[in-house]
Amino acid sequence: MQQQPRTILVTSALPYANGPIHIGHLVEYIQTDIWVRFQKMRGHQCYYVCADDAHGTPIMLKARQEGINPEILIAQVAKAHQADFAAFNIGFDQYHSTHSEENRYYSELIYQRNWEAGHISNHVISQAYDPVENIFLPDRFIKGQCPKCNAEDQYGDNCEVCGASYSPGDLISPRSAISGSEPVQKESTHFFFRLNDFADMLQNWIKSKALQPEVANKLAEWFDAGLKEWDISRDAPYFGFEIPKQPGKYFYVWLDAPIGYMASFQALCNRTPGLDFASFWDANVNNTETNIGNNTEGNTKTELYHFIGKDIMYFHTLFWPAMLHGAGFRTPTAVFCHGFLTVDGQKMSKTRGTFIRASTYQEHLNPEALRYYFAAKLGNGVDDIDLNLQDFTAKINADLVGKFVNIASRCANFITKRFAGKLAVNLAAPELYAEFIACNSTVAELYEQREYAKAVREIMVLADKANQYINTMQPWVVAKQPGQEQTLQEICTMGLNLFRVLLGYLRPILPAIAIASEDFLQIRPLTWDALHSPLLDHTIKPFKPLLTRITPVQIAAVIEASKQDLKTQSVS
Ligand code: 2FM
Ligand code: ZN
Repeated sequence: MQQQPRTILVTSALPYANGPIHIGHLVEYIQTDIWVRFQKMRGHQCYYVCADDAHGTPIMLKARQEGINPEILIAQVAKAHQADFAAFNIGFDQYHSTHSEENRYYSELIYQRNWEAGHISNHVISQAYDPVENIFLPDRFIKGQCPKCNAEDQYGDNCEVCGASYSPGDLISPRSAISGSEPVQKESTHFFFRLNDFADMLQNWIKSKALQPEVANKLAEWFDAGLKEWDISRDAPYFGFEIPKQPGKYFYVWLDAPIGYMASFQALCNRTPGLDFASFWDANVNNTETNIGNNTEGNTKTELYHFIGKDIMYFHTLFWPAMLHGAGFRTPTAVFCHGFLTVDGQKMSKTRGTFIRASTYQEHLNPEALRYYFAAKLGNGVDDIDLNLQDFTAKINADLVGKFVNIASRCANFITKRFAGKLAVNLAAPELYAEFIACNSTVAELYEQREYAKAVREIMVLADKANQYINTMQPWVVAKQPGQEQTLQEICTMGLNLFRVLLGYLRPILPAIAIASEDFLQIRPLTWDALHSPLLDHTIKPFKPLLTRITPVQIAAVIEASKQDLKTQSVS
């Protein structure tokens, strides 16, 4: 069924520019990329932007530790991150940096407009300060003994031994994690975003969204606890943007990080004729033909979605829409939260070798396999997902190699050898083809709702049917029967057409296999609509293996290499 064309901007959270991309990060980028690829296949105008989150104390200190300028560090990391994303076929339309002129511009603008509207105040606060390094200390940079269980060397915000949460002032014998000196209290003026000014607006925004129930519950708790003002400034030395007219004061990294979504999109607009920033970000941009509705600011022309992890929900569902609204910009159409990744049922661990970098994974295993496995696990809730390495091996070998790719390999050779690559002019079982096509709206709706695991199950039921068809028709027997040439050609054509429909359905998940298969089938990139017409009377190329089985040796190699990675602090 033809859909109204939609105009959509999608983002994933911006990774910090001080460490490598690991498979935990990839859950989100793969989840988002599948959704974007699906929207593009449906014929919608969909843009996917991201950037490195390049500011803040940890990045400044890491650069200092390495004896380089932060600019050099973030350039190295940007290169490594983009190589990792490319290896996993994360198809950003734009990958930018929060340390960019576009981001400075929008950060200043959003700050300025909120300031003029009275949503920012300033007052003096007292904070922990390292008197040796002359730097204010974020909670994570104060260490000491846990006030609850007396464990040594715990961070200023929580204890990794007993799990207690506290404030750094409660630590016994606190020490600066930078110089080891005892922190002192020091006063300084800070700037605060008055979140509570937006309580009514946020309640309306939340009501108008199809929020995940877990997110809605969490938001209700935060509202009950009261919306507190938010400290958006940091003192020098800080790697970030200096606040206009406030020498020595910088925007806190979390102020300019989400603005990085806008900056990245602006960079895309700058190099894309006709792509108009305002129609995506201004409030009150209306499209009279389609009303995608629900947006309190009335930007009904375009949709804006943020994919994020559940740990950064507060920033994206409270601060971010409030900041945007306060500055006269539109609010997001929805924010989609996901859970964390565990490996073999446990938190990723460097010593167990399950803290697996994207670059390490792809030296030993096919990125398409991880994309498929994550998809097969992902629903639209915030539950954590588990990468069980044994199940991963079994699933890829059974579903992708044993069922999906096998359909093509069972049929293609007959077409190549006996018919010079030419497909038949008729389908042998049009009703089966119609049955496959009839599933397209169900599969599409599951993708739209981010219910990928359910979509994959539906698709694999069809893959079983395709294999049953081939088992029943036994082309290898027909091939030996004289005078059965046309039957053989039609059976194999039918098998390859079923493969093509499955390929279309799996295409958002398996972009590299899709490209190789489209080359083998000699077809243009599949769209959802193209699947309705079968491929007949058409010449294909000889079949080449699209994917090989995963072996336990490869898994062991990834674990071992990840243990070795422990020893290097590199950014890639
Ligand atoms: O939590 C993080 O990894 C942040 N770097 C995410 C930022 S997302 C957006 F707000 F920029
Ligand atoms: Zn403790």
